[in-house]
Amino acid sequence: RRVAVVLGTRPEIIKFAPILNECEKRGIECLLIHTGQHYSDGLDQVFFDQLSLPEPDYNLEVGSLGHGEQTGQMLTGIERILLDETPDVVLVQGDTNSTLAGALAATKLHIDVGHVEAGLRSFDREMPEEINRLATDHISDYLFAPTEESRQYLERESVGGEIVVTGNTVVDTLYQYRDVVRRESDVLDEHDLQPGEFYLLTAHRAENVDNPESFEKLLTGVARFAERTGRDVVYPVHPRATSGLEEFDIEVPESIRTIEPLEFLDFLCLESEAALAFTDSGGVQEETCILGTPCVTLRYSTERPETVHVGANCLAGLEPDDICDAAETMVGKSGDWPVPFGDGNASERILDTVAAEEETDVEALEA
Ligand code: UD1
Ligand code: UDP
Repeated sequence: RRVAVVLGTRPEIIKFAPILNECEKRGIECLLIHTGQHYSDGLDQVFFDQLSLPEPDYNLEVGSLGHGEQTGQMLTGIERILLDETPDVVLVQGDTNSTLAGALAATKLHIDVGHVEAGLRSFDREMPEEINRLATDHISDYLFAPTEESRQYLERESVGGEIVVTGNTVVDTLYQYRDVVRRESDVLDEHDLQPGEFYLLTAHRAENVDNPESFEKLLTGVARFAERTGRDVVYPVHPRATSGLEEFDIEVPESIRTIEPLEFLDFLCLESEAALAFTDSGGVQEETCILGTPCVTLRYSTERPETVHVGANCLAGLEPDDICDAAETMVGKSGDWPVPFGDGNASERILDTVAAEEETDVEALEA
């Protein structure tokens, strides 16, 4: 069976990495389609290099556009490629516009769609990601749910596809790379940081950084806690947030050091060694939970409730006092909670399912 993978953003590259590696190991032919949603070197090429991934067979170079235009251009481009290449199954991951475009283009051509990281729900339909998740899950043939909880959401919604609980592929990626991090990353020295003596911040969600009031509040809350506890914050700034800072002329408090987005191993090093992470990122909520670093989420909802249930994460919202209270509760936690995202073999399960279908097809032909 010919597999195609559609990806377009930083987290998709990172979470598809173990699947692409597993395809290579098994000799499964895999067509790689990059939508070009992310294109800056630091959000794109560095991950291909560092995770030793094959170069995409196609890059649509769609770039940054409004939701409709961006998704529409992807849809047109992906459809053309799928018509030419006729893969048997298309894999998409997560909740971005690239995810939705890949799934929609494939299903309209009656090509099987496999959704990796299916069944996540924030129950906040103001988030573009929630719409992408809902739509993708309902048009997918295979739903690779990372946890039992996500399986239950899917069953409750009576999705049509086959649900398989696989774990999250990010565990596969982290288990593969966490031991090389200390050896290969100089990021602590480069930024003069001591293990356990700094906080990490990431904030890039549209609802936070496209709104000056929200952005200012979250920075104020994080800075207040940092100043109170005498530690610095390091903030690798996503380009969307850079635009927000510039457009709204926001002054970042002194205790927050802004730096360029980091490559994967450097970022993993900061996640592992921080005393606490403040974030609105989905991936960072998962990774800190897996690595044993307490996390404060700068949002009012999360589609990763498992992280909260095991005690790794606290939903703080955006009010400065609430952020400080949540940080107070979380800082100093030992980090020995159970990992709720599987055992690091998600990619194998996903490819087993896709390959099992091949045997069924062959058996049907023989019968
Ligand atoms: C997208 C996803 C989001 C995901 C995030 C991962 C959607 C709707 N959103 O958000 O779910 O969490 O990726 O990081 O799909 N930009 C650059 N260089 C790039 C890419 C973007 O400078 O390579 C800047 C542009 O100014 C652009 C802005 O970032 O307008 C936003 O990019 P976009 O891909 O639209 O959304 P993200 O915020 O990155
Ligand atoms: N990440 C990175 N460098 C950074 C910030 C994040 O390599 O400077 C990685 C992080 O380890 C995680 C992923 O990017 O795997 C998360 O991406 P992002 O927060 O952009 O998207 P989300 O997960 O919220 O969709």
